[in-house]
Amino acid sequence: MKKFLMMVAVSGMVLGASWGMALAGGGSLPAADGKAVYDYITRTSPYQQWPLWPGKEKFYKGQHPHGALLTTYVSDPAKNTVVSKTGQFPVGSIIVKENYMPDKMLGAVTVMYRVDGYDPNAGDWFWAKYKASGEIEAQGKVAGCIGCHTAAIQNDWVFTSAVK
Ligand code: HEC
Repeated sequence: MKKFLMMVAVSGMVLGASWGMALAGGGSLPAADGKAVYDYITRTSPYQQWPLWPGKEKFYKGQHPHGALLTTYVSDPAKNTVVSKTGQFPVGSIIVKENYMPDKMLGAVTVMYRVDGYDPNAGDWFWAKYKASGEIEAQGKVAGCIGCHTAAIQNDWVFTSAVK
């Protein structure tokens, strides 16, 4: 029991520390807005410096509709969810997936960002899709994204690996 409590305390501290770092280095989290999110993930806290989705290398094989090859980054709180299988990504979690053509040309970047109270019917995820140039292709409560990701509702709306 004591050991268990210690582990809880330690993982709480680790989580706290990574939050603190993210906030210290990255400024406050963006609004649920395509441009604000893009600025955040490219300038404030460049996602290519984030951890990869645990267990996935760069350019792993993807499926329709996302592209032949995928590279997926997770913000620190999101990484903890995948590693520790806590079951649910905490508010503020951001997942950024690069979608590549077979020849490793970047086709699009898709993002899931959990925002408190944003869309209770769909897991409070904000969805966005950007062209390689950064131009917004879709953003918000995007019906297409939600419709398909609903199949993963038992896994907090994500497919890449089990989070519980
Ligand atoms: C037809 C089904 C489908 C649609 C539509 C879809 N996705 Fe996905 N998405 C997937 C699958 C399947 C994966 C797992 C990666 C893979 O194998 O391609 C995935 C993975 C992701 C991931 C990585 C996290 C995870 O779920 O594992 C993000 C981020 C993402 N999608 C964002 C989006 C956004 C944003 C849209 C809308 C613009 C969208 N998706 C539309 C099926 C879909």
